Amino acid sequence: MKDFLVVGNLKMNLLSENECEHYLAELRKAAYGKHFTHVKGIVAPPFVHLYRFAHLPTHFALAAQDVHWEKSGAATGSISPLMLKSFSTEYVILGHSERRSALGETDEIIRAKVDGALKHNLIPIVCIGETREERDQEMTTAVVSRQLESIFNGLSTLQSEKVIVAYEPRWAISTSGTGQLPTTTDIFQVKVFMRKWFTEHFDAKLAEKIRVLYGGSVNSILLPSFSWEAEMDGVLVGKESLFPRELVKMMEMSEQHFKNTDAV
Ligand code: PGA
Repeated sequence: MKDFLVVGNLKMNLLSENECEHYLAELRKAAYGKHFTHVKGIVAPPFVHLYRFAHLPTHFALAAQDVHWEKSGAATGSISPLMLKSFSTEYVILGHSERRSALGETDEIIRAKVDGALKHNLIPIVCIGETREERDQEMTTAVVSRQLESIFNGLSTLQSEKVIVAYEPRWAISTSGTGQLPTTTDIFQVKVFMRKWFTEHFDAKLAEKIRVLYGGSVNSILLPSFSWEAEMDGVLVGKESLFPRELVKMMEMSEQHFKNTDAV
């Protein structure tokens, strides 16, 4: 079975060394003595804190929030995949809607970053999802399909199975969304559409292998309905991941759920 992923996107938070150390101390305390066999935690701090996060508790891995597609050179303000690797980073979040909308990141730019990440053995967690207007115009599957096409077109089977897709309806993100929330059925329908898309573009085996996460207002109360009840392979958590105890609680709930499922 694939590990269920609980990914914390800390965004542009932890503003000082003190805040960062406090967060890490809380995370270590919350995770102390906990053992997970079905779940993995992933934390994505801002770049400047990556080195502090290099020694995370067991069952946690490190992610960055972006990466450049080139490994070095004239790219002012950018971070190379090799720099991320040197801080033990395993994953990188790409194409987050906040970067798509505020910084004008296009599908093409995101695809270049996916290629750069894969080339240097970073696992991309690529965010996709429709706006409220697109949803209202019943364009969700058209948008998702276009975004999947741009991520996967031309990738080999081996490359494709490494990519993690995070379905984040933009309107459901706690800080930049509309305050509305999707139902389990809404999420499940997109998951079914994506599985079909993967089956048609690759094959059923690969469709099972590619992980799809849900993101947007996830907390420990909504976790079941946003994740396993909708057959998602994990969650991408923004605001609530700023509370290490919440993050670990979601990991524990998921562990319990999958243990119970195993026992059936
Ligand atoms: P949220 O953010 O959990 O605060 O809605 C999710 C995200 O933006 O990835």
